[in-house]
Amino acid sequence: MRFKEKTITLKNGQTCLLRSPEERDAEAMLDYLRQTSAETDFMLRYEDEITLTPDDERKSLSDILDDPKRIMIAAFIDGKLVANTGLNPFGQTDRVRHRAEFGISIIKEYWGQGIGSALLSELIAAAKQAGYEQLELEVVTQNERGIALYKKLGFETFGTREHTFKYRDGRYCACHLMLRRL
Ligand SMILES: CC(C)(COP(=O)(O)OP(=O)(O)OC[C@H]1O[C@@H](n2cnc3c(N)ncnc32)[C@H](O)[C@@H]1OP(=O)(O)O)[C@@H](O)C(=O)NCCC(=O)NCCS
Repeated sequence: MRFKEKTITLKNGQTCLLRSPEERDAEAMLDYLRQTSAETDFMLRYEDEITLTPDDERKSLSDILDDPKRIMIAAFIDGKLVANTGLNPFGQTDRVRHRAEFGISIIKEYWGQGIGSALLSELIAAAKQAGYEQLELEVVTQNERGIALYKKLGFETFGTREHTFKYRDGRYCACHLMLRRL
């Protein structure tokens, strides 16, 4: 699915463009993914685990634009890709076809300006449009900012899984399982 682009004004007065990333954004997407993966302990991957080539990423972005059950919405400030959110089906079988999951991350310098709220509101609308009945995610229990964003937009915690991540230094962390009905 392709998001119908729109412009929003951030809390600091800056203008931010929301649009689906396209093939031409592949290299910017990989740079953004590496940066956001390095900036916190809250992401699924370490920076060095992002091994897609620009060609792989171009193909992936093009496939998402053509898929009615998936969407990506990115945020651009002065032409720079600073944030992205992506909606994916939980699975392909009839019994789970009503469920979707998503990821979201923003380059740290741009946190707290309302980009997360704007992207997630649009993603929720897109998930409804795609026919999903519920939206799910897992969030590290220490991720206070993320949890505040999800609660603000109607998500509820329905469980907590211990030892969801194991970091390279041997530490573990738990994740809350959160859900919003659509
Ligand atoms: C989590 C994340 C997406 C939030 O995005 P953001 O653009 O900073 O969010 P917003 O500015 O829209 O703020 C959302 C809400 O967070 C809350 N919030 C803001 N600052 C906060 C803080 N310091 N502590 C706790 N909550 C805070 C507020 O309730 C705010 O809503 P409000 O603006 O209406 O008051 C972003 O911080 C991020 O990318 N983090 C790293 C990656 C990550 O954690 N991804 C999610 C993995 S599950």
